[in-house]
Amino acid sequence: MDASILEAKWSRFTLTLALAAVSMSTAAISVYIFKRKTNGLNSKLSELEASLNSSLEKCASERQGRIRAQQALRKALTQPKCENPEMNHYPMTPIGIIQSCFSTRYGAPRQPLLVPLARACLIFNTSRVPPASLEGLAEYSHCWVIYVFHLNTDLEKLWKNPSKSKFKAKVRVPRLNGGRMGVFATRSPHRPCPIGLTVAKVEAVQGNMVLLSGVDLVDGTPVLDVKPYLPYCDSIKEAGVPNWLMEDNILAVASVSFSEDFTSTLKNCWTMAENKSLYASPDEFQGLIKQVLSWDIRSLSQRNRPHDAVSVKENAELLGDTSDKDECPDETARVHEKEQNSQNSQDVIYNLTLEGLDISYRIDHNSNVIVEKVSPFMHLSNDRNCCNYLTWKDKLQ
Ligand SMILES: *[C@@H]1O[C@H](CO)[C@@H](O)[C@H](O)[C@H]1NC(C)=O
Ligand SMILES: *[C@@H]1O[C@H](CO)[C@@H](O)[C@H](O)[C@H]1NC(C)=O
Ligand SMILES: *[C@@H]1O[C@H](CO)[C@@H](O)[C@H](O)[C@H]1NC(C)=O
Ligand SMILES: *[C@@H]1O[C@H](CO)[C@@H](O)[C@H](O)[C@H]1NC(C)=O
Repeated sequence: MDASILEAKWSRFTLTLALAAVSMSTAAISVYIFKRKTNGLNSKLSELEASLNSSLEKCASERQGRIRAQQALRKALTQPKCENPEMNHYPMTPIGIIQSCFSTRYGAPRQPLLVPLARACLIFNTSRVPPASLEGLAEYSHCWVIYVFHLNTDLEKLWKNPSKSKFKAKVRVPRLNGGRMGVFATRSPHRPCPIGLTVAKVEAVQGNMVLLSGVDLVDGTPVLDVKPYLPYCDSIKEAGVPNWLMEDNILAVASVSFSEDFTSTLKNCWTMAENKSLYASPDEFQGLIKQVLSWDIRSLSQRNRPHDAVSVKENAELLGDTSDKDECPDETARVHEKEQNSQNSQDVIYNLTLEGLDISYRIDHNSNVIVEKVSPFMHLSNDRNCCNYLTWKDKLQ
């Protein structure tokens, strides 16, 4: 045989051998892969089975839980009521306190947002409310504030002996000229549960404090809760009110002017307030005074009978009279009579305390307010050291 042919045959043989080897190993690999795949499938299957088992178990226990809860509910409903329903109390405690420009109730607006410059600092109790709770609040323009009518004189009676406290179902409404309405048709502070609701502008948030404006809250008001104001559901376009509310009672005054030496007196007094005040300067504070007095803040009885305002108040209290927010029986409006026998309402001097400063004014027959004097009246709380204008300066641009 030709050597070259032999060589070719040989090489073809080795090639075949090699090919066989290759295909055999491929087969072996495939078997291996198949085996692995099957193993994989098996473990997947048992995994699925296990998870199915566990969800079935969960379902069963949930069903059992539901059944148990339903049984408990049925049992509770069929059992006689708790002997003393007064014992079912909910121990709610204020979580914060208001430091407001309105040092006393007299002058606090009848409605929120009437006085844009009316500022208050809401200080949360950090042992109840960690500052992180306020994260995101500053992104809202307004918030609801739920608070306690802490100045009601009947509070203690109400808490301690609710069944004996003479709660009035109907209250006098200033707009009805003394007519009465069911308490839930009014915003009277004298309610079975003395909780107030107001809305305020969120100016800024810092640490455990919120600076609010447009407030109608008195200094020291305990706060139960704050919730963001959501215009898309909190403002109802087609909402209606009874006719008696349509009459104008907000009573804008004709003008507010200041006595000649008012500005200079205020500058002198300001040193008392400046380190604790929520206002930048005497000028800004004077702006607040003007806004507050742009509304006739006197109660109905003060307006009608300025000279016996105090005795009317006393009578009202004796009669257990309760009326709207501005007509509180325990509010002793500090009315000072210049001339005892004068029948002229413009001779009556009214005093109003803002930021601890006493402001006295007169109001004439044509509803012009003349702000006469300002004098230091009371010290602002020491809490104001950490919650004053400087605290907020950077955020109040
Ligand atoms: C799932 O439950 C069945 C029946 O109770 C049981 O036979 C099976 O072993 C369980 N499987 C697993 C993976 O727990
Ligand atoms: C803050 O809350 C704590 C715990 O409830 C309470 O002991 C403390 O008196 C509160 N502080 C103020 C200033 O209300
Ligand atoms: C207000 O603060 C300034 C600067 O810290 C201080 O000099 C001044 O005495 C303080 N005034 C009052 C009334 O505390
Ligand atoms: C009201 O203001 C006048 C004038 O400043 C003052 O004389 C009077 O004492 C004040 N009344 C009260 C009750 O504070």
